[in-house]
Amino acid sequence: MKYPLLSNAFSSRDIAEGQKVLKSKQITMSHKTKIFEKKFANYIRSKYAIMVNSGSSANLLAFSLMTNPMRKNRLKPGDEVIIPVVCWSTSLWPIVQHGLKPIFVDISLSNLNLDLKKLENSITKKTKAILCVHVLGLSSNMIKLLKIAKKYNLIIIEDTCESFGSKYKNKFLGTFGDVGTFSFYYSHQITSGEGGMIICNNIRDYEILLSLRSHGWARDKFILKKYKKYYSKIDPKFLFVNSGYNLRPTEIQAALVLSQFKRKNIFKKNRNFNRNLIIKLVIEDKKYQKQIKFLNVEKNMDPSWFGLAILVDKKFINKKKKYLKFLEKKGIETRPIISGNFINQPAIKLYGLNKKKYNFNNAQMIENQGFFIGLHTQKMSNKLAEYVSKNLLKINEI
Ligand SMILES: Cc1ncc(COP(=O)(O)O)c(C=O)c1O
Repeated sequence: MKYPLLSNAFSSRDIAEGQKVLKSKQITMSHKTKIFEKKFANYIRSKYAIMVNSGSSANLLAFSLMTNPMRKNRLKPGDEVIIPVVCWSTSLWPIVQHGLKPIFVDISLSNLNLDLKKLENSITKKTKAILCVHVLGLSSNMIKLLKIAKKYNLIIIEDTCESFGSKYKNKFLGTFGDVGTFSFYYSHQITSGEGGMIICNNIRDYEILLSLRSHGWARDKFILKKYKKYYSKIDPKFLFVNSGYNLRPTEIQAALVLSQFKRKNIFKKNRNFNRNLIIKLVIEDKKYQKQIKFLNVEKNMDPSWFGLAILVDKKFINKKKKYLKFLEKKGIETRPIISGNFINQPAIKLYGLNKKKYNFNNAQMIENQGFFIGLHTQKMSNKLAEYVSKNLLKINEI
């Protein structure tokens, strides 16, 4: 038996939708992308959504926007941005790439997200923004986080790449801050293989993001008409009004994820069903002696799971490597919780981002004791759930 991170990611319908685009020969970004952006924005209850070629690109756009000369309230070189130390590489690097200073904050063990007390203690006069990284479908207490941001006048950016469809107090993650970013990479809640989205509510931000995504171009009518005075000198089809990248998705990506989007609610339900089934089988097994633990869901949290986080008991820390190897051998794919304690990565040393050698005890504990397994978008059979749970329990036998 095998239990990969995700199985049968694409239905035959999804593939047919992708093939239709190929056959139409309209492969570059066009109306399918627009339709998906509109549907995504409506669903998540955000005014604007802009599709890009990855979640990393969405994060890059978020910081390019926040430092852009067209933005009134913008971040300046040297401004401090708070980031949880359990983050993805491309949550962090856009901060550094835009001349800002990342300030790492430890996580809370109950939700794997920013510890809000430690966050508030880390705020200085130079702090201007908070980057939330919603881990595996979970978040901090977003109401408290908003209060802190308001008190200190901080911009909020939400890296929601792992948490599309999760809600805190009935509001979608990604919609609490100035911008929210999402990933449609292979094992995420919905996928186009590669793909991403950035959302915002402010039309000025939308305008900046559209240009940044496409070469700094003014291609949309509502932007173009602001530059009429240039028409006599410059062909309006090639008017460049901002700096830019090319982070556009293809129509094939848009068609694939638009087809997946129709099944988002059933995917969410099934992932939750599978999670509950595996946990139930583990904790009701007579061999269960708390050798592994799961997270409880906090009040007000309605998670759309990305994966199932597991912590091995302290006494098995030295066995964890062997245990993960054992699980891989049994066909059960595992991953670190994002990338563990990011401060340990060689790239942090390369860029001198922890010269004061701070310790982050909770993130370290997550790195030492934590990992996650996938949650499939189809309901799993009892037989497969039993296979997974029995093997998960074997840490004290190997
Ligand atoms: C928290 C987080 N942010 C950003 C990304 C980057 O997304 P992508 O792989 O689509 O570039 C990931 C990747 O999975 C992630 O987990």
